Amino acid sequence: MYQHDGPMDGRPEQLTAALNGATPIGWWRAPGRVNLIGDHTDYCEGFVLPMAIDRDCLLAVAEADGGRIRVRSLELDGVVDLDAAGRDDPRTVEPAWGRFVAGAVQVVNERGASLPGLDIALSSTVPAGSGLSSSSALAVALTFALAQLGELKLDRREIARDALDAEVRATGVPGGLMDQLASLYGEADHALLIDCRSLDVEAIAIPPDLAVIVVHSGLPRTLADSEYAQRRADCERAAGGLGLPTLRDATFDQVRDDPRARHVVTENERVLAFARALRDGSINELGPLLNASHASLRDDFEVSTPELDQLVHALMEAGAMGARLTGAGFGGCVVALTAAKRAQRVISDATERYQGVTRLTPIPFVAHGSEGARHSLAP
Ligand code: GLA
Repeated sequence: MYQHDGPMDGRPEQLTAALNGATPIGWWRAPGRVNLIGDHTDYCEGFVLPMAIDRDCLLAVAEADGGRIRVRSLELDGVVDLDAAGRDDPRTVEPAWGRFVAGAVQVVNERGASLPGLDIALSSTVPAGSGLSSSSALAVALTFALAQLGELKLDRREIARDALDAEVRATGVPGGLMDQLASLYGEADHALLIDCRSLDVEAIAIPPDLAVIVVHSGLPRTLADSEYAQRRADCERAAGGLGLPTLRDATFDQVRDDPRARHVVTENERVLAFARALRDGSINELGPLLNASHASLRDDFEVSTPELDQLVHALMEAGAMGARLTGAGFGGCVVALTAAKRAQRVISDATERYQGVTRLTPIPFVAHGSEGARHSLAP
C-alpha cells in the first residue's frame, strides 16, 4: 500500500485490466494533502493552510448488471461487494477498506441518487496511515464519482461534506473538513487558506524556490482515533465553558490558562500570519511559525511523540527553515520548508541524523501543490 517513489506509471492500464474486460465510462481522481500549518483547528471553525499533493487515489468505473457495486483495489486485498441502494451498514463491511465505499454509497443514496450497478477499480499513491489523508482521497474520489453517476448536482463544498459524512460513517472518528476541502480545491503550485467557518478557500502561490519536504517518521499513527475524539471534546468543552459556539470566537485572554484552547487560538493566529507572509513573499517569517506550531502541538495540545520531536529537531539541525508535525499527530509525517536548492541536502542530512538516534526508517519526499479532484472520460 505504501508507495514512496511518486505517482505510479501504468496505473490506468492496470486499473482497466482489473475491470475484467469492461470498458470504463469514467475516471475520477482525488489527491491527498499535506497540511502546512493549522492543525486541530478545523473542527473549531478555525483556519487551516493545507496543500493538495501529487499523490492521489484514482478510480476507473464501469457499468455492471445486477444492482451491486463491486470494488477492487490494486494495493488492498479483497473485493468489496455492496448493494447499490445503500443497504449495507458501513461499520461492518469487510474487507474493512470497503467501509469507505459503503459510507459513500449510503450518503449519495440518502441524497436521492439512484445508482446503477458498477464495477470500480482503484489505486492510491497516497501513503496510508501517515497523516496525508489517504482516507479522504479515497472518500472524495468515491463520493465525487457516485454523486455524478447518480445524477446529483452537488458543488464542491457539498461533495466535501458528503465525503466527510462517508468517512465518519466508516470509521466513527469525528473529523473536520480540512482534508476533503483540500482534496477538492487543490491548485497546482498553490497552498489553500481555508476558513473552516465560512468555507472560503483562497489559493496562495508557493514560490518556486521554496521546497515543501514531507518525511514519514517510520512510526505508524497509533491512538490517533481515540485521542483525536478526546481532543475535539476538550475543545468543545472549553468553548462551552466560555459560552461560545466554538473556539473560533475565543480571545487569547479567555484561554490563557487552558492549554488545549490556547493551542487553537494561537494556531489560528499563526495560520493567518503564515498566509500573510506567503502572500507578501516574506519567506523568512514562515519557518518560525512552523516551529511555534510544533511546540504548541507538542506542549499545549499534546499530540506529538518523542520520535516526531526528534524528526523536527533533525530537520532543523540539517538546516530546514522550520518544521512541524502535520495532521492529527501521534505518529505519521512531519512537514518542513527549505530553499528548493538545498532540499536534497537537508533531506539526506536529517534522515541520517534521525535514523541514528531512533533506529526508525524515515521516508522523505518533496511534495508539490497539485490540482484538486477531477473527473475525466479518459485517464
Ligand atoms: C485529521 C482530520 C482533520 C484535522 C486534522 C488535524 O487529519 O481528518 O479534519 O482535524 O486531523 O488538523
